[in-house]
Amino acid sequence: MRLAFFGRGGMGGVVAQRARQEGFEIGAVVTSDDAGLDVAALTKKLRGHDAAIDFTRAPAVLRNVTACAQAGVPLVEGTTGWQDQEREVRRAVEQANGAMIYGANFSLGVNLFYRIVRQAGTLFAGLDGYRAFIDETHHTRKKDAPSGTALRLRDILRETLGGGRDVPVASKREGDVPGIHRVGLESDADQILLVHEARSREGFAAGALLAARWIAGRRGVYLFADVLDELLTLERTT
Ligand SMILES: NC(=O)c1ccc[n+]([C@@H]2O[C@H](COP(=O)([O-])OP(=O)(O)OC[C@H]3O[C@@H](n4cnc5c(N)ncnc54)[C@H](OP(=O)(O)O)[C@@H]3O)[C@@H](O)[C@H]2O)c1
Repeated sequence: MRLAFFGRGGMGGVVAQRARQEGFEIGAVVTSDDAGLDVAALTKKLRGHDAAIDFTRAPAVLRNVTACAQAGVPLVEGTTGWQDQEREVRRAVEQANGAMIYGANFSLGVNLFYRIVRQAGTLFAGLDGYRAFIDETHHTRKKDAPSGTALRLRDILRETLGGGRDVPVASKREGDVPGIHRVGLESDADQILLVHEARSREGFAAGALLAARWIAGRRGVYLFADVLDELLTLERTT
């Protein structure tokens, strides 16, 4: 499979290295030097790839998505912080009959963590004495705050706790931390803490490559959770 890459920063570098080890062919690498390319020029550069993987910055996402869709290259969108453009992004994929899979977090562990938090939220629903909170820590280069993962965790807690309860999110940026997310449920009497800590960027890279294999040859817009659902169903039935 021939892959195109957007970005060669912390994530882009790790995914490309792992892709080489896993036997993918590395094609075009689009960097910030190409930031001036318009959609037409980018589309030309992308043609002929089996999939593309994007780990750049939110302002570049709509252009990258549009070019991939128009080039007929399925895209794994790993960049975060572009929720405010979600409608335009979906429209760009759908109008060109393209394919995209996205997720704020491609780590298998975090996607299981979402499920654990969902279960916790359901258990605590209706218990007025408990308050929920989230905090997240990432490296200092991370531009968006709160992280996309923290926002997803907040949505899950709001949905499961119900009663319009708000869930405060605190963000910290320090060193080269790949990502720590803590979900707390506390009362005046006690506290329950659920923690996911990424030990490196390898888990995100492995998930992005899994998503690239999965999206190749498909059409439409998917969430990384769709891949996980399929994987877990398969494991349970085989
Ligand atoms: N979904 C997940 O599992 C997951 C996991 C980790 C991170 N992320 C997200 O992925 C994104 C990147 O993270 P990172 O840690 O790799 O950040 P990073 O180290 O800052 O790398 C971002 C890279 O994108 C490049 N870039 C910026 N604008 C560009 C453009 N228009 N075209 C092409 N390249 C461009 C930057 O180049 P310059 O340095 O030259 O500006 C830099 O190399 C962030 O949004 C982060 O939140 C997602």
